Amino acid sequence: MAAVGAVSEQVPRARSASAQTGDATDLRLVTEAAYEALAAEYDAPEHSTTRRLERLSNALVRSWLEENYASYDASTNRLRVLEVGCGTGSLTEVMVETIGAISTIVAIDQSAAMIAVAGKRLNAKLGKASELRLLQQSVYSVGKRHGLAMFDLVIGGLVDPFLEPEALRCMVGAMHSGSRLVLTTPHRHWADWERRTRLHVAPTRTSFRLRDGSTVMPLSFTYLEEDLPALLGHAGLALHESRTLSAPAVVEEGGAGLCVPPRVLLIAAAAARAP
Ligand SMILES: C[S@@+](CC[C@H](N)C(=O)[O-])C[C@H]1O[C@@H](n2cnc3c(N)ncnc32)[C@H](O)[C@@H]1O
Repeated sequence: MAAVGAVSEQVPRARSASAQTGDATDLRLVTEAAYEALAAEYDAPEHSTTRRLERLSNALVRSWLEENYASYDASTNRLRVLEVGCGTGSLTEVMVETIGAISTIVAIDQSAAMIAVAGKRLNAKLGKASELRLLQQSVYSVGKRHGLAMFDLVIGGLVDPFLEPEALRCMVGAMHSGSRLVLTTPHRHWADWERRTRLHVAPTRTSFRLRDGSTVMPLSFTYLEEDLPALLGHAGLALHESRTLSAPAVVEEGGAGLCVPPRVLLIAAAAARAP
């Protein structure tokens, strides 16, 4: 029987001063509030750039999972998977379709509203062989809480808000020496262009216009391939491989000239070996 547990947990709003500086904490809270406000309309067609990024991200992860787990033998151990920042569950759905029969999946997101939308999507679509739990939980508490340590695969789609050393270290805390970490993010080459020419925001923010006319600007860290060894190294990780996928270029009527099509970067890493 498919097990979908949409559990809403209270997460402390103020975190320990030792873990984060005041400014970083404020920006994380702004980011969490932004996604909470966005959740109800996150999947809507009018957020067309997000739809295009999501298609690219899901295609990259689907092919990575198919290549890496086609011959996984779950007869003794199911694959233990932690999905971070699952949002409305579109990548969770890809995982259920590709590795659901061999894995136990725990999908977390800080936003209660995102978890609620994901619960509706996944309740309707789960296959009988899948084991899935949805939890409202921050990536910053992963690896430190009982029951959420030791996953074989830690995975996240478009998790640019927390692709920074502290969040990576938390994810590493949930891994053993043979685990894999697989994350996608918008590619920096595209994101820099988008933010400079269209959104007019800082390189580390993105921007969504909501239906009520307000604008939210969550944190968004993006990378080029050559940035990855240093980023991962600071968190005790080693790069295994990176892949990119770009959307087809479209000519925009009345647009401001040449468009850079959306592009997504997949990062696959493992714990670095001790020297
Ligand atoms: C760009 S969305 C990606 C959603 C989904 N993975 C996908 O591929 O469509 C980023 C998600 O990260 C979540 N998020 C932001 N900060 C978080 C945190 N500190 N801990 C856990 N999730 C967080 C947001 O609520 C949001 O659902």
